[in-house]
Amino acid sequence: PQVCWLAPEQTAGKQKPYMYTQGQAVLNRSFFPCFDTPSVKFTYSATVKVPEGFTAVMSATSWEKQKDNTFVFKMSQPIPSYLIALVVGDIVSADVGPRSRVWAEPCLIEAAKKEYDGVIEEFLVVGEKLFGPYVWGRYDILFMPPSFPFGGMENPCLTFVTPCLLAGDRSLVDVIIHEISHSWFGNLVTNASWGEFWLNEGFTMYAQRRISTEVYGLPYTCLEAATGRALLRQHMDATGEDHPLNKLRVVIEPGLWGINPDDTYNETPYEKGYCFVSYLAHLVGDQSKFDAFLQAYVNRFKFQSITADDTLAFFLEYFPELKKKGVDSIPGFEFDRWLNTPGWPPYLPDLSPGQQLMKPAEELAELWAADGLNMEAIEAVDITGWRTYQLVYFLDQVLQKSPLPEGNVERLSKMYPKISKAQNAELRLRWCQIILKNNLEAEYSKVKDFLHSQGKQKYTLPLYRAMWGGSEATRALAMETFSATAPQLHVNVQNYVKKILGLQVAE
Ligand code: BES
Ligand code: ZN
Repeated sequence: PQVCWLAPEQTAGKQKPYMYTQGQAVLNRSFFPCFDTPSVKFTYSATVKVPEGFTAVMSATSWEKQKDNTFVFKMSQPIPSYLIALVVGDIVSADVGPRSRVWAEPCLIEAAKKEYDGVIEEFLVVGEKLFGPYVWGRYDILFMPPSFPFGGMENPCLTFVTPCLLAGDRSLVDVIIHEISHSWFGNLVTNASWGEFWLNEGFTMYAQRRISTEVYGLPYTCLEAATGRALLRQHMDATGEDHPLNKLRVVIEPGLWGINPDDTYNETPYEKGYCFVSYLAHLVGDQSKFDAFLQAYVNRFKFQSITADDTLAFFLEYFPELKKKGVDSIPGFEFDRWLNTPGWPPYLPDLSPGQQLMKPAEELAELWAADGLNMEAIEAVDITGWRTYQLVYFLDQVLQKSPLPEGNVERLSKMYPKISKAQNAELRLRWCQIILKNNLEAEYSKVKDFLHSQGKQKYTLPLYRAMWGGSEATRALAMETFSATAPQLHVNVQNYVKKILGLQVAE
């Protein structure tokens, strides 16, 4: 399952085949012999010979092209097995900063360069200021073919990202900030077990939002975090709050009842993890002191793999006055409860600094959910200047209130072509969800088109769930779309969709 071989039709340029690997969580064991656990770190080198007209790139500190199309790579820092990654394709690169370049197929390179030219360095500099030195040398970005299952993958020195990020307006740059944040949380300090994946992702979400706050300010960052909280709400509603996956610490076990490490890729480690780290910051009560703690934490555990117990013990050791106060056992907020009890986070960080951006979106959603539409009030709201995440937040509210009264969604669609005809993937996802929840048959083809255009897991699964949970017509749409697109999807995503559709999954 590890190595993905793509036919020319599955690439952006449609001329040459492409191959890529995706190690996280436990796929690299079928790529090369290794101790495929995040608790073991090692350096590596690789020699890769490719056919004429192809380029190989890897998550490595240095590389050199030798004769006969042979590439030699060296990763000189110890990393866990899941961070080794390889791509071979018809790809080219362009500089976007002093230590950064973008890689993409030739037909996308201009768009790739335009999207991130001159912006990456600032994120790295802010990250270094907050969390300490960036130890990986280069930070490059590789735009993957459309079927890449993730928004981004933090392969060291070379982040892989979905081409959906090429929105033309940098609006999805939070994904890049997220992957950069893994340079400290995840790639330097690593969860020793996939059962504590939140140590990677929760700290990274926190770091991402710290960088975002420094660069874009608190209101915008709170808005982005509010869309994250909505995703956590949707996830817990869909799985049930008490689901064992909705604990920060899950039990990884083989067999029918155990949890597969790949299944931990859901909103809980990200957003509940973010809440827990925010809670730790709240206990400290002073942002600069907590920032200093994060930097000390990275310094203490860099190049190691650790457990949540190590993290929390270090926290209490670093803040002895909090330890004396017994902050680890405040009723209702016990560290043990955070880790081992499923369900909604006991503490939510205050996102009210985002109100100025959220409130207009909430009010507009209210208007659209009403029984007789107040068109005068609706037309008085001008959304042309809204940021993408404001629209996303608005659409999440609309989705939550859906199905809307008869006819409202049709009018909404006509009124805002900026939304219903959007090319931005985050907007398209929400619009498709709204189409399905409101049985807007006239626009079903948009769902199909979106699922044909990309294969990101976080876009694909919610739409299949919605189609399968809908009418006979949407179920048929699901089956038809899946039979046409299955060969393009990553094998993990294929299997998850099969499960949703009640199809046989091969062991
Ligand atoms: N490391 C993850 C992607 C991942 C998780 C791959 C689990 C395989 C198994 C990456 O850093 C990530 O979290 N990507 C997010 C970005 C988002 C939170 C900004 C994604 O792909 O959606
Ligand atoms: Zn991540």
